[in-house]
Amino acid sequence: MKAYIVDRYRKNEPLRYGDVPEPVPGQDDVLVEVHAAGLNPLDNKIRDGAFKAILPYRPPFILGHDVAGIVIGVGANVRRFKLGDAVYARPRDGRIGAFAERIAIDQADVALKPGTIGMEEAASIPLTGLTAWQALVERAGLEQGQKVLIHAGSGGVGTAAIQLAKHLGATVATTTSTANVDLVKRLGADIVIDYRNQEFDKLLSGYDVVLNSLDSTTLRKSLDVLKPGGKLISISGPPDPDFAREQGLSWALRQVMRLLSMKARRLARKQGVDYSFLFMHADGAQLTKIAELIEAGSLRTVVDRVFPFAETNEALAYVETGRAKGKVVIKIK
Ligand SMILES: NC(=O)c1ccc[n+]([C@@H]2O[C@H](COP(=O)([O-])OP(=O)(O)OC[C@H]3O[C@@H](n4cnc5c(N)ncnc54)[C@H](OP(=O)(O)O)[C@@H]3O)[C@@H](O)[C@H]2O)c1
Repeated sequence: MKAYIVDRYRKNEPLRYGDVPEPVPGQDDVLVEVHAAGLNPLDNKIRDGAFKAILPYRPPFILGHDVAGIVIGVGANVRRFKLGDAVYARPRDGRIGAFAERIAIDQADVALKPGTIGMEEAASIPLTGLTAWQALVERAGLEQGQKVLIHAGSGGVGTAAIQLAKHLGATVATTTSTANVDLVKRLGADIVIDYRNQEFDKLLSGYDVVLNSLDSTTLRKSLDVLKPGGKLISISGPPDPDFAREQGLSWALRQVMRLLSMKARRLARKQGVDYSFLFMHADGAQLTKIAELIEAGSLRTVVDRVFPFAETNEALAYVETGRAKGKVVIKIK
């Protein structure tokens, strides 16, 4: 089958379009004919080699974290899916490879595709939808009436997180540039900070939760927005020792992450707030809950551009600009 392959780790190296062996599903796997694949900044970072220590993929390997497609094979232990099911998934770390005609995925990572949307929209959801869910529901326990600041509201994570936070009954502030103010308001943001003209840390206070996906300056300023006991959850780093433990990383890497996050953790402690790094994980059960929200109209997809499979490298370059509004998807079938 055809796929886009990382032959070696190198910054901005185009992926190779080539032939690879057909995936063979294991006993717990579904074999999916990929109709569309979603793109994420993580794809570029992995290709560049920036995640080698945490996710040690050995080239050559197929890139891609978000899948929508049709089940065309099932392993002996698979009971929840059958041939012909339309599904979507974020395959677990170590088993990625969405930029391909077919992929075998552990059934635990898969959910039925929301019936109300097409394949390209469905492929835009898994990684960022799960990130928003794991940050706001699992980690923050966000409740009705609480206040949350979501940075980069017009991005893949931001567009999902704003809507999920509103669904949970929170008051939502977000940062974005002038051009995207209307978009984030339409998604439900109550307070919009145009970061080109306004400073969020001067305007917001008493927040329960901040979801950070930006740089260390934003992270530091975000501490001032929180009330005592509030939670600063960062998905863009620095990684902390709890994350290193959860990932089963070596003692040496745990120490590196202790050092990397020392300042953030110290500043947070000083202000009486909690700092944690979140690295999202595959979860088919959560994707089922997200599908219910989509079908109920509580969560809508925001797809900026759909590229043909033949332009996967161009699509990755577009994501790399950091200017996408919502998600970028490639159409494979
Ligand atoms: N740890 C995890 O599990 C995890 C999961 C998902 C993502 N991430 C990371 O989180 C980051 C965001 O991911 P994503 O998928 O949302 O990225 P993305 O979709 O590529 O983000 C692009 C958006 O970011 C906005 N943006 C850029 N600079 C901004 C700023 N200074 N203030 C406010 N908005 C800004 C842009 O809006 P404007 O054009 O208006 O500036 C654009 O709409 C990435 O670093 C990604 O790797 C981590």
